[in-house]
Amino acid sequence: RWPKEVQIKEVGPRDGLQNEKNRVPTLDKIAWINMLSDSGVREIEFSSFVHPKWVPQLADAHEVGQKLKRNPNVRYSALVPNKKGLELALEAGIDGASVFMSASETHNRKNINKSIDDTYPVLREVIEGARKEGKHVTGYVSTVFDCPYEGSVSTDDVIRVCDQLMEFGVDDLSLGDTIGTAVPSQVEQLLEQVLQRYPKDRIIMHYHDTRGMAIANIMASMEYGITRFDSSIGGLGGCPYAPGAAGNVATNDILYLLHGMGIKTGIDEKKVQEAAFYIQNKLGKSLPSKSLAYEAAQ
Ligand code: HMG
Ligand code: MG
Repeated sequence: RWPKEVQIKEVGPRDGLQNEKNRVPTLDKIAWINMLSDSGVREIEFSSFVHPKWVPQLADAHEVGQKLKRNPNVRYSALVPNKKGLELALEAGIDGASVFMSASETHNRKNINKSIDDTYPVLREVIEGARKEGKHVTGYVSTVFDCPYEGSVSTDDVIRVCDQLMEFGVDDLSLGDTIGTAVPSQVEQLLEQVLQRYPKDRIIMHYHDTRGMAIANIMASMEYGITRFDSSIGGLGGCPYAPGAAGNVATNDILYLLHGMGIKTGIDEKKVQEAAFYIQNKLGKSLPSKSLAYEAAQ
């Protein structure tokens, strides 16, 4: 019933930090990513090559990419919104480019300043350019269940965006519950459709934990054979263009779940904990992960 192995992508340095008011100094960020690199995780989304005015917390993406200590077993990926971002990201030495757009029109406009239709050619150029350089490409689709501005999003709208990104040549799709509102029945409804079109191993689920539903949704996804999830250390993060939304499911919590169920991830929970305490101290606040809070109390 349950998979033997699950692949986790650590998105804390990107999805986590992009929503923090306080900036983490670049060298601390690099030290932290190096700790994560050493945890056994196979992919780290280390930053974003977006406009620095839009996400100032990640304005040092280039320096981080160039200075972080490479572990050959880790794929270092970053968000890339357009051709300019791709040029900078390639210079910084990315292994993977993550393009992103939304299934709902309003969130897409607020997030990347374009209509859905106008976004396609921009992302196509990035996808083709990154592939030409031999980079792995992930296509994020946001608001796959609900949009903070439009409410419920139809599966047809999600599939339309997925189809386009697949046609442009992404290696995989990461489907985002951007504001963390979904419940397992919505997950089932979406995956029922999505998995009729694409193989399971090309789908990643990206759950934000605003209402504490992420773990339940991960369980529902695994029932459908999904074995790839994004998570953020300590539960750090959110989306700057989705007011009130919380961070991703905490890496610490998903690891507790999976390892407790005998599902392998290759990740050392202790090392993730140390990295979580490190960033917690740098940010001067407690992170939302329940597992982390319990460990901190021991
Ligand atoms: P724009 O203003 O429409 O861009 O922004 P533009 O193409 O009109 O260019 C305007 C100026 O920006 C130009 O400079 C460009 O050179 C410059 P000027 O000629 O005026 O001096 N520019 C750039 N500079 C640096 N890096 C770049 C870049 N691109 C243009 N890459 C843009 C469009 C997409 C860039 C902007 O809207 C943006 O940066 N948005 C970022 C939004 C963002 O990061 N959101 C959070 C991440 S998505 C997310 O969290 C969801 C996810 O986690 C999944 C989920 O949870 O659902 C992935
Ligand atoms: Mg996200």
